[in-house]
Amino acid sequence: MDLQAIKNKFSALFGDEFSVYTSPGRVNLIGEHTDYNGGFVFPGAIDKGIFACIRLNGTKTVRAYSIDNEDYCEFGLNEEDLPEQHWAKYLFGVCREIEKRGYTIGGFDTVFAGNVPIGAGMSSSAAVESTYAYALNELFNLGIDKFELARIGQMTEHHYVGVKCGIMDQFASLFGKAGNLMRLNCATMEFEYFPFDPKGYKVVLLDTLVKHSLASSAYNKRRESCENACAHIAAKYPEVKYLSDATQDMLDEVRPDISGEDYLRASYVIGEKQRVLDVCDALGKGDYETVGKCMYGTHFGMSKLYEVSCEELDYLNDLAKECGVTGSRVMGGGFGGCTINLVKEDLYDNFIKTAKEKFNAKFGHEPKVYDVVISDGARRL
Ligand code: GLA
Repeated sequence: MDLQAIKNKFSALFGDEFSVYTSPGRVNLIGEHTDYNGGFVFPGAIDKGIFACIRLNGTKTVRAYSIDNEDYCEFGLNEEDLPEQHWAKYLFGVCREIEKRGYTIGGFDTVFAGNVPIGAGMSSSAAVESTYAYALNELFNLGIDKFELARIGQMTEHHYVGVKCGIMDQFASLFGKAGNLMRLNCATMEFEYFPFDPKGYKVVLLDTLVKHSLASSAYNKRRESCENACAHIAAKYPEVKYLSDATQDMLDEVRPDISGEDYLRASYVIGEKQRVLDVCDALGKGDYETVGKCMYGTHFGMSKLYEVSCEELDYLNDLAKECGVTGSRVMGGGFGGCTINLVKEDLYDNFIKTAKEKFNAKFGHEPKVYDVVISDGARRL
């Protein structure tokens, strides 16, 4: 990703006056599929993001060029103007969601590109949404707070992309702070920054490069299972608003009334809530062994109970164990993408070498390796 190339393209298409905005992708140390269940997540923004040149054009038309798709699109700001191109739906959705909240925006010209790997579980789409939500809020002086900007991105996914996602990715992209992870309570939206600098360890992502074409419908199905289990529990325990409020005992009580599948999904979510709290506690004490154990616990749950892993991710997780990696698990929504690994510095080289060789021997290509740098959230450059 070359910022100068974006600027040059903008100048060639629309002229020399523009502002530049960026928003990052994210990692998540622990707390997966908990956000839409009112639980905790523990993400941080990364040093990879979306970069956009933007200028208001005084019309009611948006004119956009995506460098990564080598594709141009023009659309109006009314509901019936939904563009056909998938990438443009994110921009359109953000505009619509802003207007649905009673704000008025006008047209703009924009060129954008990014370096968040797509489909790797690092939230490239949230980075696009956050970039435009943040930029339009500033350029049109709308005064929308960052929580609402995050919801605008999330509702773009729900209404224009078809993924019933939680709030984690957009939140992380907007609120990220260099060197800090954030523990967010998704039921109350209270959050806390946690300085994250595990001395003697590295955090590295290994990307299987597997992309599941049905990931969004499978994701939505997981969410339905959770909501169904929660509704059964709430019928007996009205204080349970979200699945994360429930205990394993409550779930066991409604076991006969729900499907075996829903039961497994819900057990995972309830277990994951405790793991996030345990990790925060352990981090406070510098106890990375416990952090790592919880990460492996999450992988097991995501693979065997929530069933959002795949052969390649499970293989990387096994290799991590073999190589003495402190913690490893599938990151993000799952169905492909990356593992996140917490590895002692002196074991790092051997782990990466072994993972590349063995993965290549089994699947015919090496995993991609990304070192994680925890960085700032959405901003104007
Ligand atoms: C995707 C969604 C998030 C979250 C994760 C799983 O990234 O966009 O809201 O649910 O999956 O933790």
